[in-house]
Order: sequence, then structure tokens, then C-alpha cells
Amino acid sequence: MMTNKAFSHLTFAKLPINNPASQDELLAHARYTITPVEHDYAGKTATMWNAAYLHFKMDVVMAMMVGETRQAKEVLSDFKGDPQYIGGGSGVGFKDENVKYVDELDPLAKAIGSINLIQKLPSGQLKGWNTDGIGYRQSLEKLLAEKGLMLKGAKIVILGAGGTGNAIALALAEKGARVVIINRTLEKAEELAIRINTFVGDTCAQAKGEDSIEEEVKDASVIINVSTKGATGAFEEYSALAPAKLPATPENIAENMEAAKKVFDTIPKTAILSDVVLRATPSPFLKEAQERGFVTLDGVPMVVNQGVEAFIIIHGNELGVYVDLRSQVYEIMHKAANF
Ligand SMILES: NC(=O)c1ccc[n+]([C@@H]2O[C@H](COP(=O)([O-])OP(=O)(O)OC[C@H]3O[C@@H](n4cnc5c(N)ncnc54)[C@H](OP(=O)(O)O)[C@@H]3O)[C@@H](O)[C@H]2O)c1
Repeated sequence: MMTNKAFSHLTFAKLPINNPASQDELLAHARYTITPVEHDYAGKTATMWNAAYLHFKMDVVMAMMVGETRQAKEVLSDFKGDPQYIGGGSGVGFKDENVKYVDELDPLAKAIGSINLIQKLPSGQLKGWNTDGIGYRQSLEKLLAEKGLMLKGAKIVILGAGGTGNAIALALAEKGARVVIINRTLEKAEELAIRINTFVGDTCAQAKGEDSIEEEVKDASVIINVSTKGATGAFEEYSALAPAKLPATPENIAENMEAAKKVFDTIPKTAILSDVVLRATPSPFLKEAQERGFVTLDGVPMVVNQGVEAFIIIHGNELGVYVDLRSQVYEIMHKAANF
């Protein structure tokens, strides 16, 4: 059995289910997709994709593999030369790296500056995509539609301007939302707002510091936390609606929660409150939003939708005969991810 050099730089992730454990197991299939990540963790990507391959009886397998990001260029070039490789994910650590080595970029991915998907085109060239923000956008659009509302023209306050904030803010602005990006480090929010306005050719994005949260949420249709406030670890007891001073002493947490309560009182009751953090229990921001009766959106539909969108980009044409393919893939992936 022929193998390509890329495999000498990568090891198979030790996922509890649904990840090939060896090259032989992987290469026994007609085609394969790979998602490189910089460290081993219980990611859901291979589990979700392999469940879909099984369901549609496709002779394809996805493997999450662990490698060093400094070898990204070599690894991609070796995979590119292998006819069995048809693309795949671009996971933790590789998202910003792989963007430099694909042959072509989808315009949204180019504006974001990071990719979570690689598609091998019929020409053999590699195209980079970013479906993270699109995945979030789809989950929000569904919720807005249920309330008879549209994304276009809606005022959306985005708390955070890191990698995920970038992807979400650009994807929402691309479809006409007005976004206000509020970040602890104002310069990062300003840089993102300029990039968004350049991308959409409009002035739909504004940047603010955390001292503007109260003012900006007063007339917001949607408020999304994409900062690490509320994520497991040092920030897990902090609300996203107010600054979070470390260390996480009872006094600092109480100060944050008190300030957040004041802000909550000013949010229109019709607003959708959302937090993309993935944790076993709702974040303090989402918990209080639920207690106050707001419509809320957590990070789960985003993870599933970004996978669905990616799967459809790679396999949509060959699975075109299936009616309602997107919702079928969503059901399969959601069940497989088992959140
Ligand atoms: N649901 C999903 O599918 C999904 C996918 C990816 C990520 N996520 C979640 O999204 C969150 C952000 O991830 P990321 O990759 O964007 O992280 P990141 O690139 O490291 O960005 C972190 C963000 O949090 C802010 N932040 C950190 N400490 C803060 C503090 N003390 N006070 C206020 N803001 C603070 C940062 O502000 P500065 O710029 O000032 O440092 C920055 O905006 C994480 O909770 C992650 O788990 C969810």
C-alpha cells in the first residue's frame, strides 16, 4: 500500500469513537479527509463527518490527526499530491497557518484570515474556506426567522474580537447586519471594524471599548458573547456583560456580576442573547438571560452548522439527489456530536 509523506509528520488523534487509529485503516477507503490539530483533544469533527459518511454509505473516512503547525506547508503539499485526499478540516492551531498554503481562498475566509476547511478542487488545487461564522449565522438566522425578524439591518452587539469574534462578525456583516464590536482591547475591535467595512464596502461595523456595553445594548436586537468571559477556567464565573477583573476572587466576581445586572436591566426584552462558549452548564450571561425570560442561543448549533456547511461544500454535488440534504446532515451530525 502506497502512503504519502504527510503521514510521517502526523499521529492519529486518540478519540474515543469514530477516528481511524492507523494508516491502514484510513487508506482502506477510496477517499479520505484529514483535520490536522496541534494537540490531541476530544474534538467532534471526525465523529460528525464519519457518522455522515456511514449514513450515506460513502467509501470515505475522516481522521483528526495531531501535528506541529511549523510543518503545515509540507503536510499540505504532500496531501495535495495524494489522489485519495479530498480535503478536510483545518483545526486548532492550523487555522491561521494553513491559510498561507492553500492555492485559493473563498473571499469570506480571506477577509477572516483563517480557514477551518480545505477543499480539493477538480483541478487538484486546494481552496480554503471558513465556515465557523457561517455556522453561527445560520443558527441565528433560524432563530430570527422564528420571531419573524431578519438579519439584514439588525443591530448586533458582539462582545469580543478574537478568532471566533472575527469569523462571526464578518459572516453577520456579509449578510447586512449592523455590528458593534466591543472588546477589552479597543485596538483589536477597531482593526476588525475596518476590515469588515472594507470587506462589505459599507460602514456597517463600529468598534467600542467595554465601557460602552451599557450604552450599546439598549437598542440591540442581538447580543453575542464571543469573548472568553464565562468559558471554563479562570473566567467561568464572570458575566460577559461587564468587565472581568482577575484574579477570580469572590470580590472581583461579585463586582462583575453586579455591573452585569445593571446592564441587563437596560436590554430590550425582545433581544436575543447568545453565548458561543461550550460548557456543560450555561455561562453566567446565558443563565441570567434565561432566568429573565430572554430568547437565548448557545454555542452548540454553531459547532454542528459549521460542520454541516463544510460537509456540503465538499460533498454537496455528489449527494445532490438527497432531498433536504442540509437538514439530514444536521440531524446526523448533531446526534453524533452528542452535546
Ligand atoms: N461554539 C463554537 O463552535 C465555538 C467555536 C470556537 C470558539 N468558541 C468559544 O469562543 C470563545 C472565544 O474563542 P476565540 O478562539 O475567539 O478566543 P481568542 O481568539 O483567544 O479571543 C479571546 C477574546 O476574549 C477576550 N478576553 C479575554 N480575557 C478577557 C477579559 N478578562 N475581559 C474581557 N475580555 C477578555 C479577548 O479580548 P482581548 O482582545 O482584549 O484580549 C478576545 O476578544 C471561547 O470561549 C471559545 O470556547 C466557541
